[in-house]
Amino acid sequence: MEKKIAIIMGDGIGPEVTEQSIKVLNAIGRRFGHQFHYTYGLMGADAIDKTGNPLPDETIVTCLESDAILFGAIGHPKYDNDPTAKVRPEQGLLKLRKELQLFANIRPVSTYPSLQHLSPLKTKQLKDVDFVIFRELTGGIYFGKKELSEDKTQASDLCVYSKHEIERVSHLAFQYAQKRKKKLTLVDKANVLETSRLWRKVVQEIALQYPDITVDYMFVDNASMQIILYPAQFDVVLTENMFGDIISDEASVLTGSLGLLPSASVGNKTALFEPIHGSYPQAAGKNIANPLGSILSSAMLLDHFQFTAEAAAVRAAVEWTLANGFVSKDIDAINNYSTTAIGDLITDHIERNTGSESHGTNESFNKSTII
Ligand code: IPM
Ligand code: MN
Repeated sequence: MEKKIAIIMGDGIGPEVTEQSIKVLNAIGRRFGHQFHYTYGLMGADAIDKTGNPLPDETIVTCLESDAILFGAIGHPKYDNDPTAKVRPEQGLLKLRKELQLFANIRPVSTYPSLQHLSPLKTKQLKDVDFVIFRELTGGIYFGKKELSEDKTQASDLCVYSKHEIERVSHLAFQYAQKRKKKLTLVDKANVLETSRLWRKVVQEIALQYPDITVDYMFVDNASMQIILYPAQFDVVLTENMFGDIISDEASVLTGSLGLLPSASVGNKTALFEPIHGSYPQAAGKNIANPLGSILSSAMLLDHFQFTAEAAAVRAAVEWTLANGFVSKDIDAINNYSTTAIGDLITDHIERNTGSESHGTNESFNKSTII
């Protein structure tokens, strides 16, 4: 099949990890007989430097005309410590989410046996950890009215949610839970916030339509503790925009490295796939970044095209690199491989394993690619 993919490399390590994903997608194309056509768009600090605008209109058009978007990362330190900056890289991503109505951000949190020693948690707490965070992505405090008083001594950010905004992401989360362990946890702060009380009311109503799903409700302060204490209790976690931002970073450390986690943002238009790590400017250009978050995001992109065997081939190749110690510096500070070497190993693995997706750990590999 032919598919159009918009590529937004973005800032920091975004370009180098996204390039590995493109190699991997091309290998999938060769093995499974697909043609992927890439169109490149600018966003973030890169776009500000080149055009003055964190999200040029051409990028939005490119995204709307594509079947999926693969995005790297956004952000640059020169803006982080300047609260007065009028134009910020993040505005590009927030605008893109709004323009494409990417209202649901899906962040799977799974652990890999070979990486458990890297997790700050004890191995027994990591047993059976496999959950997915559904973060509402186009509403709440991120998008409410922002004000700064004239004398610049008072500021406010309004948190607004409509019933409709809560319903559409909730339905996706319930349907997802139906395909999994059939449990959904709503994370909110309903003891304090009016928006959270609306979330609870709407989710309670929707729950009636999904009698096969067990629903529980947790305040966000308690949830952030439970994610550390007993993460295996979660299946699908549904939450609003800012709580989702915070708890998904928290949850990502369970796996051992933030560099591993992929995400998908879906809505009514083109869906977007990106690693959850940020632009990691200290590592940019050094060929040391972990490309797996991006490559696993490509697997989610393939799932979105309903290319299930293709996505499985990518995940099998990723698991093979992890099991054999072909890992980046964030995972092993002493014996590690470069970003491009890991991309090459995964690409080779996909092209050479045209049969079953289960592979032994002593399989041969093309050594030339890792030197
Ligand atoms: C994320 C990021 C973004 C967010 C930033 C870059 C605006 O942290 O995707 O989680 O806060 O949503
Ligand atoms: Mn975040």
